Amino acid sequence: MKEKDLSIRIRSLLKEKNGIILAHNYQPPEIQDIADLTGDSLELSRKAAQTDAEVIVFAGVLFMAETASILCPEKTVILPRLDATCPMADMIDAEDIIDFKKDNPNVPVITYVNSTASVKAETDICCTSANCIKVVNSMDTDKVFMCPDQNLAKYSSKHTEKKVLFWEGYCPVHHNLRANDVINAKKEHPDALFLAHPECREEVLDIADVIASTSGMLKTVAKSQYQEFIIGTESGIIYPMQKLALDKKFYDPGKKLICPNMKKTGLNDVLAALETMENIVKIPEDIRIKALSAVKEMIKITG
Ligand code: 13P
Ligand code: SF4
Repeated sequence: MKEKDLSIRIRSLLKEKNGIILAHNYQPPEIQDIADLTGDSLELSRKAAQTDAEVIVFAGVLFMAETASILCPEKTVILPRLDATCPMADMIDAEDIIDFKKDNPNVPVITYVNSTASVKAETDICCTSANCIKVVNSMDTDKVFMCPDQNLAKYSSKHTEKKVLFWEGYCPVHHNLRANDVINAKKEHPDALFLAHPECREEVLDIADVIASTSGMLKTVAKSQYQEFIIGTESGIIYPMQKLALDKKFYDPGKKLICPNMKKTGLNDVLAALETMENIVKIPEDIRIKALSAVKEMIKITG
């Protein structure tokens, strides 16, 4: 089927089933174009919780669909490709948290939303790339533990008096970017502003002009007087950036950052998922209730 026909068929099935498509900022252009809403991981989950739609097709990776299902269990959450997972989320499991808590009973566990539902379930509070500093500083202890991303933890530790213990997980995509790549890109584009995601290494964040979540980066591009930007995150975000600011220029930071899992979903997968209604993401209720409490704690603090 041609792209246009696929899109028409998808929209018609969505109408029939009272569904919407939520797409992460890294998704391929054709998926972002057909989505009802694009955004960062937290924005999309919030949207999932607010919508009247009964079916949510989540074009992203598994932890995002899981978060939507945690927040709205009455809705049918579909992940078009069940093999679209986040390697960082899989670098820690619930047992690891349980063990940490046994050894450190008074240290709150702060878990990045890029984590599995069962890890969230053992957690005191969740955080995102947009609110991690606020969450860390809201804890009434001198010490906190952050997981699974060591880079997000090191970044947060620079903005707090607290001691930040951390799990040594990382995003293979962002962790692959080195300061030298950025320094070379800056030499090539001396008038460009360098935007970095907090999942990047400390050496990269140290030379960033702006550190932000994916949606934070989009906001920066929209309001900035700069005309050129070096983008220190997954390259899929350049598509919405270009749509937002047609006259501005966007460059890769020396190497192209591509998350293979974010690129798995195609229009064919969305159509197949809607036709079969098979790829449903549902969290067992005992885990969901505990995970929801950690997500709600975060929302309570960050608004
Ligand atoms: P955001 O929440 O900033 O969109 O990040 C999600 C992600 O997977 C980053 O790699
Ligand atoms: Fe996970 Fe990194 Fe891909 Fe984001 S970019 S989904 S953190 S592997």
